[in-house]
Amino acid sequence: MKTKIIEETDLSDAINSLKKGEPVVFPTETVYGLGASVFNPQAIQRIFEIKERPSDNPLIAHISSLEQAESLSENLPPLFSILAKRFWPGPLALVVKRRPEVPAIASAGHPTIAIRMPSHPTAKKLIEEIGPLVAPSANLSGKPSPTRLRDILEDLNGKVEVVIDGGDCEIGIESTVLSLYHPVPTLLRPGKITREELEEAIGMPIALPSSVEAPLSPGMKYRHYAPKSPVRLVYHIEDLKGPFILSPFLIPGKTVRPLHMKVLYAQLREADRLGVSCIEIYCPPSTLENAALMNRLLRASGSR
Ligand code: TXA
Ligand code: MG
Repeated sequence: MKTKIIEETDLSDAINSLKKGEPVVFPTETVYGLGASVFNPQAIQRIFEIKERPSDNPLIAHISSLEQAESLSENLPPLFSILAKRFWPGPLALVVKRRPEVPAIASAGHPTIAIRMPSHPTAKKLIEEIGPLVAPSANLSGKPSPTRLRDILEDLNGKVEVVIDGGDCEIGIESTVLSLYHPVPTLLRPGKITREELEEAIGMPIALPSSVEAPLSPGMKYRHYAPKSPVRLVYHIEDLKGPFILSPFLIPGKTVRPLHMKVLYAQLREADRLGVSCIEIYCPPSTLENAALMNRLLRASGSR
């Protein structure tokens, strides 16, 4: 299959592919997604094949209106409306009960479905044309999510019909995932929208999944966001050896590359292209305080 790269100004090729059940790569404000209609189980099956994604890992349904949320889940809880009003469109996915009409494969057979309204105008246009789109990150399973065109092509060139070039993603890490299905709202994946902001919005505490509950968020059990080169988190400047160092600020006497959400995955992929023997990531206290960034760093490092 030859992959066609198209501009955001004319989405007709993307719309045609989606209509005939071929998954399409499209930009969102977080990371690029590999999308297919929520209501086309064969197309969703293709997503799992293309990504080599474990079949028990559910997908996020992307919507462009609140009516679409009602087509995916009935009796949405009051907290859903509060959070949707405050944070949508934006980088927040809410897990609620799935309607029986929604194909089970969309959420890998789980009784729930994760819903997010992205703010990216191109994502919005596609969803308005096709209806709700399930979309995991547009990487091969286990690799860092793509935030730039070249990173998508590295994984999916020749495997998808159409890639929409939306430039570099603005946020650079995946959305915050919050379960409203648990008896107490539970943070399944930290993201740019923080636990504190969510608690402030709903006026109640948010739980973290206990290790017993972890399988409820299947994505979290796989080694993820991981480059081929081993990643080592370094907490003291004097322990940095180099040569490939990511740091949130310049360090006199050392050659460093930038460390922040927007460029993290691009840098991890760059390290693999260079074939470095080790990636060192300098984590001063300010980095340790950033739950979303630390979550990705720990998982990239396999918690080393
Ligand atoms: O920012 C994002 O969310 C990006 C862009 C494309 O929107 N998408 C994304 O999708 O990161 P994916 O499939 O790479 O990650 C989805 C995460 C996984 O950890 C998955 O296990 C969890 O959300 N998830 C999805 N549906 C769920 C459900 N029904 N219950 C529990 N966890 C769910
Ligand atoms: Mg992913």
